[in-house]
Amino acid sequence: MKIIIAKDYKNLSKVASEILIKEIKKNPKLTLGLPTGSTPLGLYKELIKAYKKKKINFSKIRSFNLDEYYPIKKSDKNSYHYYMFKNFFNHVNIKKENINVLNGETKNPKKECLNYRKKIEENPIDVQILGVGMNGHVAFDEPGSKFNSKTRLVKLSSETLKSNSRFFKNPKDIPKKALTVGIKTIFSTKKIILLASGKNKALAIKHLIEDKPKSQFPVTFLKKHKNLTLILDKEAASLLS
Ligand code: GLP
Repeated sequence: MKIIIAKDYKNLSKVASEILIKEIKKNPKLTLGLPTGSTPLGLYKELIKAYKKKKINFSKIRSFNLDEYYPIKKSDKNSYHYYMFKNFFNHVNIKKENINVLNGETKNPKKECLNYRKKIEENPIDVQILGVGMNGHVAFDEPGSKFNSKTRLVKLSSETLKSNSRFFKNPKDIPKKALTVGIKTIFSTKKIILLASGKNKALAIKHLIEDKPKSQFPVTFLKKHKNLTLILDKEAASLLS
């Protein structure tokens, strides 16, 4: 595991974008795994800036998002589908047919998850960007998720509902379920870059570094990955000895 401590959130986003730009230059046909949440917003801004300066080209890039609320309309401002187009896809030249986001409108979540998993197996993810929840969730793999968990419909934990409902106009409107790729899919990616910013992530990072892999804190499963880089700001790293 490689740990990079950035001086602040701005620097964290810049460092993450520089790594990604290098990877894309090495392989312009890269398949990216993408997260949502507040943490990657700075990274998306940096990537858009680099694209506008013609430093980077997304025309051959393929992407798979980690998760989506369920049920939710794509047009809902709180859907991850909406988030991704608003904060990233609309501003770069990634092709629509190369974008993959789990469909929160599906009537058949089981089939949706199976197809999504198969599509990732056919197009393995080269670089997976990740955030982490305060309770140790990655994607929507909540505490209790097994190492070999697959893409599936899950119930959101009370902690996640509490922490994510701040984005909803009426906090009660947050869907209680979600579709998520499993830990197994995340672990199968060639390179993982996990971003964590702020004091409220410090404990999760301490657990990731000090604990043994365990279901109660799913992010700990990633510590055995051969190519994991953590990019933390000083606050997220503040409980490390
Ligand atoms: C959501 C997403 C996760 C993300 C987490 C942290 O629950 N499903 O993929 O890592 O939020 O979000 P934030 O970056 O806003 O702290």
